[in-house]
Amino acid sequence: MSKLLTGLGPVVCVVGARPNYMKMAPIVRAFKAAGLPVLLVHTGQHYDAAMNDRLFSDLKMPAPDINLEVGSGTHAVQTAEIMRRFEPVVDEHHPSCVLVVGDVNSTLACSLVATKKGIPVAHVESGLRSYDRAMPEEINRILTDQLSDLLYTTERSAHGNLAREGIPEERVEFVGNVMIDSLLANREQAVAPAETLVREGKDPAILEHPKGFGVVTLHRPSNVDSADTLRPLLELLNEISTRLPLVFALHPRTRNNVERFGLGHLLSAPGIVCLPPQGYLEMLGLMAGATVVLTDSGGIQEETTALAVPCITLRENTERPITIEQGTNVLAGCDRGIILSAVADILATGGKRGRVPEYWDGHAAERIAAHLSAWLLARQAAAVGG
Ligand code: UD1
Repeated sequence: MSKLLTGLGPVVCVVGARPNYMKMAPIVRAFKAAGLPVLLVHTGQHYDAAMNDRLFSDLKMPAPDINLEVGSGTHAVQTAEIMRRFEPVVDEHHPSCVLVVGDVNSTLACSLVATKKGIPVAHVESGLRSYDRAMPEEINRILTDQLSDLLYTTERSAHGNLAREGIPEERVEFVGNVMIDSLLANREQAVAPAETLVREGKDPAILEHPKGFGVVTLHRPSNVDSADTLRPLLELLNEISTRLPLVFALHPRTRNNVERFGLGHLLSAPGIVCLPPQGYLEMLGLMAGATVVLTDSGGIQEETTALAVPCITLRENTERPITIEQGTNVLAGCDRGIILSAVADILATGGKRGRVPEYWDGHAAERIAAHLSAWLLARQAAAVGG
Protein backbone atom coordinates (compact mmCIF):
# COMPACT_ATOMS: atom_id res chain seq x y z
CA MET A 1 0.00 0.00 0.00
CA SER A 2 1.18 3.50 -0.74
CA LYS A 3 2.18 5.84 2.08
CA LEU A 4 -0.56 8.23 1.19
CA LEU A 5 -3.25 5.57 1.56
CA THR A 6 -2.15 4.85 5.15
CA GLY A 7 -3.43 8.24 6.31
CA LEU A 8 -6.94 7.56 5.03
CA GLY A 9 -10.03 7.15 7.14
CA PRO A 10 -11.73 3.77 6.80
CA VAL A 11 -13.96 2.78 3.95
CA VAL A 12 -17.25 2.26 5.76
CA CYS A 13 -18.89 -0.79 4.18
CA VAL A 14 -22.64 -0.97 4.83
CA VAL A 15 -24.82 -4.07 4.93
CA GLY A 16 -28.41 -4.27 6.08
CA ALA A 17 -30.35 -7.14 4.56
CA ARG A 18 -29.74 -10.65 3.34
CA PRO A 19 -28.95 -9.93 -0.31
CA ASN A 20 -26.21 -7.49 0.77
CA TYR A 21 -24.03 -10.10 2.47
CA MET A 22 -23.03 -12.15 -0.56
CA LYS A 23 -22.12 -8.90 -2.33
CA MET A 24 -20.11 -7.46 0.54
CA ALA A 25 -18.15 -10.58 1.59
CA PRO A 26 -15.78 -10.57 -1.43
CA ILE A 27 -15.47 -6.77 -1.27
CA VAL A 28 -14.31 -6.79 2.35
CA ARG A 29 -11.82 -9.55 1.50
CA ALA A 30 -10.46 -7.70 -1.54
CA PHE A 31 -10.18 -4.39 0.37
CA LYS A 32 -8.22 -6.04 3.15
CA ALA A 33 -5.92 -7.67 0.61
CA ALA A 34 -5.39 -4.28 -1.07
CA GLY A 35 -4.58 -2.65 2.29
CA LEU A 36 -7.71 -0.50 2.37
CA PRO A 37 -8.90 0.08 5.95
CA VAL A 38 -12.46 -1.24 6.37
CA LEU A 39 -15.15 -0.55 8.95
CA LEU A 40 -18.06 -2.96 8.48
CA VAL A 41 -21.40 -1.53 9.59
CA HIS A 42 -24.58 -3.63 9.81
CA THR A 43 -27.75 -1.57 10.03
CA GLY A 44 -29.74 -4.48 11.50
CA GLN A 45 -32.49 -4.24 8.86
CA HIS A 46 -32.49 -8.05 8.91
CA TYR A 47 -31.95 -9.56 12.32
CA ASP A 48 -33.28 -13.17 12.44
CA ALA A 49 -30.49 -15.71 12.82
CA ALA A 50 -31.78 -17.43 9.67
CA MET A 51 -31.65 -14.19 7.68
CA ASN A 52 -28.39 -13.04 9.13
CA ASP A 53 -25.84 -14.82 11.36
CA ARG A 54 -25.83 -18.03 9.34
CA LEU A 55 -25.08 -16.16 6.12
CA PHE A 56 -22.22 -14.28 7.73
CA SER A 57 -20.57 -17.50 8.82
CA ASP A 58 -21.27 -19.27 5.51
CA LEU A 59 -19.65 -16.39 3.63
CA LYS A 60 -16.75 -16.19 6.10
CA MET A 61 -17.49 -12.54 6.56
CA PRO A 62 -16.03 -10.95 9.71
CA ALA A 63 -18.60 -9.93 12.33
CA PRO A 64 -19.69 -6.32 11.81
CA ASP A 65 -17.63 -3.73 13.69
CA ILE A 66 -20.84 -1.86 14.45
CA ASN A 67 -24.49 -3.03 14.47
CA LEU A 68 -27.11 -0.31 14.42
CA GLU A 69 -29.92 -2.78 15.30
CA VAL A 70 -32.71 -0.87 13.54
CA GLY A 71 -35.03 -3.85 12.97
CA SER A 72 -38.27 -3.77 10.97
CA GLY A 73 -40.66 -0.88 10.43
CA THR A 74 -42.48 1.00 7.69
CA HIS A 75 -40.17 2.27 4.95
CA ALA A 76 -40.19 5.77 6.43
CA VAL A 77 -39.48 4.57 9.95
CA GLN A 78 -36.81 2.09 8.91
CA THR A 79 -35.04 4.53 6.57
CA ALA A 80 -35.18 7.38 9.10
CA GLU A 81 -33.96 5.18 11.94
CA ILE A 82 -31.00 3.94 9.89
CA MET A 83 -30.08 7.54 9.04
CA ARG A 84 -30.38 8.67 12.66
CA ARG A 85 -28.15 5.85 13.90
CA PHE A 86 -25.64 6.00 11.03
CA GLU A 87 -24.86 9.70 11.36
CA PRO A 88 -22.88 9.39 14.63
CA VAL A 89 -20.84 6.55 13.06
CA VAL A 90 -19.76 8.88 10.26
CA ASP A 91 -19.03 11.67 12.74
CA GLU A 92 -16.88 9.42 14.88
CA HIS A 93 -14.93 7.51 12.23
CA HIS A 94 -14.35 10.13 9.48
CA PRO A 95 -14.61 7.65 6.59
CA SER A 96 -12.68 8.24 3.39
CA CYS A 97 -15.69 6.76 1.61
CA VAL A 98 -18.98 5.02 2.35
CA LEU A 99 -19.53 1.94 0.19
CA VAL A 100 -23.06 0.60 -0.25
CA VAL A 101 -24.34 -2.36 -2.25
CA GLY A 102 -27.62 -3.21 -3.95
CA ASP A 103 -30.96 -1.53 -3.43
CA VAL A 104 -32.32 -2.08 0.06
CA ASN A 105 -33.45 0.67 2.43
CA SER A 106 -30.06 0.61 4.19
CA THR A 107 -28.34 1.37 0.85
CA LEU A 108 -30.26 4.61 0.36
CA ALA A 109 -30.34 5.70 4.00
CA CYS A 110 -26.56 5.50 4.46
CA SER A 111 -25.83 7.11 1.08
CA LEU A 112 -27.97 10.08 2.03
CA VAL A 113 -26.25 10.57 5.38
CA ALA A 114 -22.76 10.34 3.86
CA THR A 115 -23.45 12.66 0.92
CA LYS A 116 -24.83 15.40 3.14
CA LYS A 117 -21.65 15.22 5.20
CA GLY A 118 -19.45 15.54 2.13
CA ILE A 119 -18.23 11.92 2.31
CA PRO A 120 -17.91 10.23 -1.10
CA VAL A 121 -20.30 7.37 -1.75
CA ALA A 122 -19.44 4.30 -3.82
CA HIS A 123 -22.40 2.22 -5.02
CA VAL A 124 -21.87 -1.37 -6.07
CA GLU A 125 -24.52 -2.77 -8.47
CA SER A 126 -25.36 0.64 -9.88
CA GLY A 127 -27.59 1.49 -12.78
CA LEU A 128 -29.98 -1.48 -12.69
CA ARG A 129 -33.51 -0.34 -13.49
CA SER A 130 -36.84 -2.16 -13.61
CA TYR A 131 -38.60 1.08 -14.61
CA ASP A 132 -41.25 0.08 -12.07
CA ARG A 133 -41.52 2.70 -9.37
CA ALA A 134 -43.99 0.57 -7.41
CA MET A 135 -40.92 -1.41 -6.28
CA PRO A 136 -39.31 0.15 -3.20
CA GLU A 137 -35.94 -1.07 -4.51
CA GLU A 138 -36.32 0.97 -7.72
CA ILE A 139 -36.67 4.19 -5.68
CA ASN A 140 -33.63 3.18 -3.63
CA ARG A 141 -31.60 2.51 -6.80
CA ILE A 142 -32.44 5.76 -8.55
CA LEU A 143 -31.74 7.94 -5.52
CA THR A 144 -28.59 6.10 -4.44
CA ASP A 145 -27.15 6.43 -7.95
CA GLN A 146 -27.90 10.17 -7.99
CA LEU A 147 -26.02 10.55 -4.70
CA SER A 148 -23.01 8.39 -5.57
CA ASP A 149 -19.56 9.59 -6.59
CA LEU A 150 -18.49 6.16 -7.85
CA LEU A 151 -20.92 3.86 -9.60
CA TYR A 152 -19.77 0.27 -10.09
CA THR A 153 -21.87 -1.72 -12.58
CA THR A 154 -22.54 -5.41 -13.13
CA GLU A 155 -23.78 -5.25 -16.72
CA ARG A 156 -23.36 -2.80 -19.56
CA SER A 157 -27.09 -1.98 -19.86
CA ALA A 158 -26.66 -0.05 -16.60
CA HIS A 159 -24.50 2.54 -18.37
CA GLY A 160 -27.34 3.58 -20.69
CA ASN A 161 -29.73 3.84 -17.74
CA LEU A 162 -27.32 6.07 -15.81
CA ALA A 163 -26.57 8.25 -18.85
CA ARG A 164 -30.33 8.82 -19.32
CA GLU A 165 -30.49 10.05 -15.73
CA GLY A 166 -27.73 12.58 -16.37
CA ILE A 167 -24.96 10.83 -14.46
CA PRO A 168 -21.52 11.74 -15.85
CA GLU A 169 -19.82 8.81 -17.54
CA GLU A 170 -16.53 9.32 -15.69
CA ARG A 171 -18.18 8.31 -12.41
CA VAL A 172 -19.30 4.95 -13.80
CA GLU A 173 -17.06 1.87 -13.90
CA PHE A 174 -17.95 -1.56 -15.27
CA VAL A 175 -16.49 -4.09 -12.83
CA GLY A 176 -18.73 -7.16 -13.12
CA ASN A 177 -20.76 -8.98 -10.52
CA VAL A 178 -19.55 -9.36 -6.92
CA MET A 179 -22.44 -11.71 -6.15
CA ILE A 180 -20.92 -14.14 -8.64
CA ASP A 181 -17.54 -13.74 -6.87
CA SER A 182 -19.24 -15.24 -3.81
CA LEU A 183 -20.94 -17.95 -5.82
CA LEU A 184 -17.71 -19.11 -7.47
CA ALA A 185 -15.76 -18.94 -4.20
CA ASN A 186 -18.33 -21.12 -2.42
CA ARG A 187 -19.49 -23.45 -5.16
CA GLU A 188 -17.40 -26.37 -3.89
CA GLN A 189 -18.73 -25.99 -0.35
CA ALA A 190 -22.41 -26.03 -1.36
CA VAL A 191 -24.52 -28.38 0.76
CA ALA A 192 -26.20 -31.27 -1.08
CA PRO A 193 -30.00 -30.77 -1.31
CA ALA A 194 -30.78 -34.12 0.34
CA GLU A 195 -28.59 -33.16 3.31
CA THR A 196 -30.43 -29.85 3.65
CA LEU A 197 -33.80 -31.60 3.73
CA VAL A 198 -32.60 -34.13 6.29
CA ARG A 199 -31.24 -31.32 8.49
CA GLU A 200 -34.66 -29.69 8.38
CA GLY A 201 -36.37 -32.96 9.33
CA LYS A 202 -37.87 -33.49 5.84
CA ASP A 203 -37.90 -36.67 3.78
CA PRO A 204 -35.27 -36.35 1.00
CA ALA A 205 -37.06 -39.03 -1.07
CA ILE A 206 -39.08 -36.23 -2.67
CA LEU A 207 -35.92 -35.19 -4.54
CA GLU A 208 -35.70 -38.52 -6.34
CA HIS A 209 -38.37 -37.69 -8.90
CA PRO A 210 -37.29 -38.60 -12.48
CA LYS A 211 -37.51 -34.93 -13.49
CA GLY A 212 -35.59 -33.74 -10.43
CA PHE A 213 -37.02 -30.90 -8.34
CA GLY A 214 -37.79 -27.21 -8.53
CA VAL A 215 -36.79 -24.51 -6.02
CA VAL A 216 -39.13 -21.66 -5.14
CA THR A 217 -38.55 -18.32 -3.40
CA LEU A 218 -41.11 -15.52 -3.14
CA HIS A 219 -40.95 -12.37 -1.07
CA ARG A 220 -41.74 -9.29 -3.19
CA PRO A 221 -44.50 -7.23 -1.58
CA SER A 222 -46.26 -7.11 -4.99
CA ASN A 223 -46.54 -10.93 -4.94
CA VAL A 224 -47.03 -11.76 -1.27
CA ASP A 225 -48.63 -8.80 0.49
CA SER A 226 -52.13 -9.35 -0.88
CA ALA A 227 -54.20 -12.54 -0.69
CA ASP A 228 -55.50 -11.84 -4.21
CA THR A 229 -52.02 -12.32 -5.65
CA LEU A 230 -50.57 -14.79 -3.20
CA ARG A 231 -53.47 -17.29 -3.36
CA PRO A 232 -53.35 -17.86 -7.16
CA LEU A 233 -49.56 -18.08 -7.03
CA LEU A 234 -49.71 -20.78 -4.35
CA GLU A 235 -52.48 -22.59 -6.25
CA LEU A 236 -50.26 -22.57 -9.31
CA LEU A 237 -47.33 -23.96 -7.32
CA ASN A 238 -49.66 -26.74 -6.17
CA GLU A 239 -50.45 -27.55 -9.77
CA ILE A 240 -46.77 -27.52 -10.79
CA SER A 241 -45.91 -29.75 -7.82
CA THR A 242 -47.97 -32.58 -9.36
CA ARG A 243 -45.43 -32.60 -12.25
CA LEU A 244 -42.27 -31.64 -10.41
CA PRO A 245 -41.66 -31.65 -6.65
CA LEU A 246 -40.94 -28.19 -5.27
CA VAL A 247 -38.71 -27.07 -2.42
CA PHE A 248 -39.97 -23.72 -1.14
CA ALA A 249 -37.67 -21.65 1.10
CA LEU A 250 -40.05 -19.30 2.90
CA HIS A 251 -39.04 -15.70 3.60
CA PRO A 252 -40.46 -14.35 6.92
CA ARG A 253 -42.60 -11.81 5.05
CA THR A 254 -44.17 -14.63 2.99
CA ARG A 255 -44.57 -16.97 5.95
CA ASN A 256 -46.33 -14.23 7.95
CA ASN A 257 -48.68 -13.48 5.06
CA VAL A 258 -49.50 -17.15 4.39
CA GLU A 259 -50.61 -17.38 8.02
CA ARG A 260 -52.42 -14.03 8.01
CA PHE A 261 -54.43 -14.92 4.88
CA GLY A 262 -55.14 -18.50 6.03
CA LEU A 263 -53.38 -20.06 3.02
CA GLY A 264 -51.29 -22.66 4.88
CA HIS A 265 -53.27 -25.55 3.36
CA LEU A 266 -51.90 -24.59 -0.08
CA LEU A 267 -48.41 -25.40 1.12
CA SER A 268 -49.23 -28.85 2.44
CA ALA A 269 -49.45 -30.58 -0.97
CA PRO A 270 -47.48 -33.84 -1.12
CA GLY A 271 -45.19 -32.41 -3.82
CA ILE A 272 -44.20 -29.31 -1.83
CA VAL A 273 -41.57 -29.17 0.92
CA CYS A 274 -41.41 -25.90 2.86
CA LEU A 275 -38.19 -24.84 4.52
CA PRO A 276 -37.29 -21.85 6.65
CA PRO A 277 -34.86 -19.31 5.11
CA GLN A 278 -31.71 -21.20 4.26
CA GLY A 279 -28.03 -20.52 4.73
CA TYR A 280 -25.98 -19.47 1.71
CA LEU A 281 -24.38 -22.88 1.17
CA GLU A 282 -27.71 -24.69 1.47
CA MET A 283 -29.38 -22.32 -1.00
CA LEU A 284 -26.45 -22.63 -3.39
CA GLY A 285 -26.72 -26.44 -3.26
CA LEU A 286 -30.48 -26.34 -3.83
CA MET A 287 -30.20 -23.97 -6.80
CA ALA A 288 -27.28 -25.82 -8.37
CA GLY A 289 -29.17 -29.12 -8.13
CA ALA A 290 -32.53 -27.81 -9.34
CA THR A 291 -34.25 -28.54 -12.64
CA VAL A 292 -35.76 -25.06 -12.48
CA VAL A 293 -35.91 -22.17 -10.03
CA LEU A 294 -39.11 -20.13 -9.69
CA THR A 295 -38.44 -16.82 -7.98
CA ASP A 296 -39.18 -13.13 -7.62
CA SER A 297 -35.71 -12.38 -6.26
CA GLY A 298 -33.27 -10.15 -8.11
CA GLY A 299 -30.07 -11.91 -7.08
CA ILE A 300 -31.35 -15.42 -7.81
CA GLN A 301 -31.94 -14.45 -11.45
CA GLU A 302 -28.19 -13.77 -11.64
CA GLU A 303 -27.10 -16.79 -9.63
CA THR A 304 -29.12 -19.20 -11.80
CA THR A 305 -27.61 -17.63 -14.92
CA ALA A 306 -24.12 -18.19 -13.49
CA LEU A 307 -25.06 -21.78 -12.57
CA ALA A 308 -26.69 -22.41 -15.99
CA VAL A 309 -29.91 -23.49 -14.24
CA PRO A 310 -33.22 -22.40 -15.84
CA CYS A 311 -35.01 -19.64 -13.94
CA ILE A 312 -38.63 -18.52 -14.22
CA THR A 313 -39.03 -15.05 -12.77
CA LEU A 314 -42.45 -14.39 -11.28
CA ARG A 315 -42.37 -10.66 -11.98
CA GLU A 316 -43.57 -8.39 -14.77
CA ASN A 317 -40.13 -6.84 -15.25
CA THR A 318 -36.51 -7.28 -14.36
CA GLU A 319 -33.75 -4.79 -13.63
CA ARG A 320 -31.29 -7.45 -14.75
CA PRO A 321 -32.00 -7.82 -18.50
CA ILE A 322 -28.72 -9.59 -19.19
CA THR A 323 -30.09 -12.68 -17.41
CA ILE A 324 -32.74 -12.87 -20.14
CA GLU A 325 -30.60 -11.80 -23.09
CA GLN A 326 -27.61 -14.01 -22.26
CA GLY A 327 -28.60 -16.16 -19.30
CA THR A 328 -31.20 -18.75 -18.36
CA ASN A 329 -33.95 -16.41 -17.18
CA VAL A 330 -37.53 -16.25 -18.47
CA LEU A 331 -39.81 -13.44 -17.35
CA ALA A 332 -43.28 -14.86 -16.67
CA GLY A 333 -45.05 -12.38 -14.39
CA CYS A 334 -47.91 -14.05 -12.55
CA ASP A 335 -49.50 -15.32 -15.74
CA ARG A 336 -50.65 -18.90 -15.19
CA GLY A 337 -50.40 -19.88 -18.87
CA ILE A 338 -46.90 -18.45 -19.35
CA ILE A 339 -45.59 -20.02 -16.15
CA LEU A 340 -47.04 -23.45 -16.92
CA SER A 341 -45.73 -23.44 -20.48
CA ALA A 342 -42.27 -22.32 -19.30
CA VAL A 343 -42.25 -25.21 -16.81
CA ALA A 344 -43.45 -27.63 -19.50
CA ASP A 345 -40.71 -26.44 -21.86
CA ILE A 346 -38.02 -26.91 -19.21
CA LEU A 347 -39.31 -30.40 -18.35
CA ALA A 348 -39.37 -31.34 -22.04
CA THR A 349 -36.16 -29.73 -23.32
CA GLY A 350 -34.11 -28.65 -20.29
CA GLY A 351 -34.87 -24.97 -21.01
CA LYS A 352 -32.53 -22.13 -21.93
CA ARG A 353 -28.83 -22.93 -21.79
CA GLY A 354 -27.48 -19.38 -21.72
CA ARG A 355 -23.93 -18.22 -21.19
CA VAL A 356 -22.14 -16.47 -18.35
CA PRO A 357 -22.03 -12.69 -18.90
CA GLU A 358 -18.85 -10.64 -19.26
CA TYR A 359 -16.91 -10.07 -16.02
CA TRP A 360 -19.05 -12.47 -13.99
CA ASP A 361 -15.75 -14.20 -13.44
CA GLY A 362 -15.05 -14.16 -9.71
CA HIS A 363 -12.82 -11.05 -9.81
CA ALA A 364 -15.28 -8.14 -9.60
CA ALA A 365 -14.36 -7.24 -6.00
CA GLU A 366 -10.67 -7.11 -6.90
CA ARG A 367 -11.48 -4.69 -9.72
CA ILE A 368 -13.42 -2.50 -7.28
CA ALA A 369 -10.55 -2.57 -4.75
CA ALA A 370 -8.02 -1.52 -7.40
CA HIS A 371 -10.22 1.24 -8.78
CA LEU A 372 -11.26 2.62 -5.40
CA SER A 373 -7.67 2.61 -4.05
CA ALA A 374 -6.48 4.60 -7.06
CA TRP A 375 -9.43 6.99 -6.79
CA LEU A 376 -8.89 7.65 -3.08
CA LEU A 377 -5.18 8.10 -3.64
CA ALA A 378 -5.76 10.64 -6.41
CA ARG A 379 -8.29 12.48 -4.25
CA GLN A 380 -5.89 12.57 -1.33
CA ALA A 381 -3.02 13.77 -3.53
CA ALA A 382 -5.26 16.52 -4.94
CA ALA A 383 -6.24 17.60 -1.40
CA VAL A 384 -2.58 17.69 -0.25
CA GLY A 385 -1.55 19.47 -3.44
CA GLY A 386 -4.39 21.99 -3.18
C1 UD1 B 1 -35.75 -6.56 2.06
C2 UD1 B 1 -35.38 -5.62 0.90
C3 UD1 B 1 -35.51 -6.40 -0.41
C4 UD1 B 1 -34.70 -7.68 -0.38
C5 UD1 B 1 -35.16 -8.50 0.82
C6 UD1 B 1 -34.41 -9.80 0.93
C7 UD1 B 1 -35.96 -3.23 1.13
C8 UD1 B 1 -36.89 -2.18 0.69
N1 UD1 B 1 -36.30 -4.50 0.80
O1 UD1 B 1 -37.11 -6.88 1.93
O2 UD1 B 1 -35.02 -5.59 -1.46
O3 UD1 B 1 -34.89 -8.40 -1.56
O4 UD1 B 1 -34.93 -7.71 1.99
O5 UD1 B 1 -34.82 -10.53 2.00
O6 UD1 B 1 -34.95 -2.92 1.74
N2 UD1 B 1 -38.52 -10.03 9.06
C9 UD1 B 1 -38.19 -10.97 9.99
N3 UD1 B 1 -36.86 -11.14 10.27
C10 UD1 B 1 -35.88 -10.42 9.69
C11 UD1 B 1 -36.24 -9.45 8.74
C12 UD1 B 1 -37.55 -9.27 8.43
O7 UD1 B 1 -39.05 -11.65 10.54
O8 UD1 B 1 -34.70 -10.64 9.99
C13 UD1 B 1 -39.93 -9.86 8.69
C14 UD1 B 1 -40.60 -8.73 9.42
O9 UD1 B 1 -41.92 -9.10 9.67
C15 UD1 B 1 -40.57 -7.60 8.41
C16 UD1 B 1 -40.71 -8.36 7.11
O10 UD1 B 1 -40.03 -9.60 7.32
O11 UD1 B 1 -41.59 -6.70 8.63
C17 UD1 B 1 -40.09 -7.66 5.95
O12 UD1 B 1 -38.73 -7.29 6.22
P1 UD1 B 1 -38.09 -5.97 5.55
O13 UD1 B 1 -36.67 -5.85 5.94
O14 UD1 B 1 -38.99 -4.82 5.78
O15 UD1 B 1 -38.18 -6.22 4.00
P2 UD1 B 1 -37.93 -7.52 3.14
O16 UD1 B 1 -39.25 -7.97 2.62
O17 UD1 B 1 -37.09 -8.52 3.86
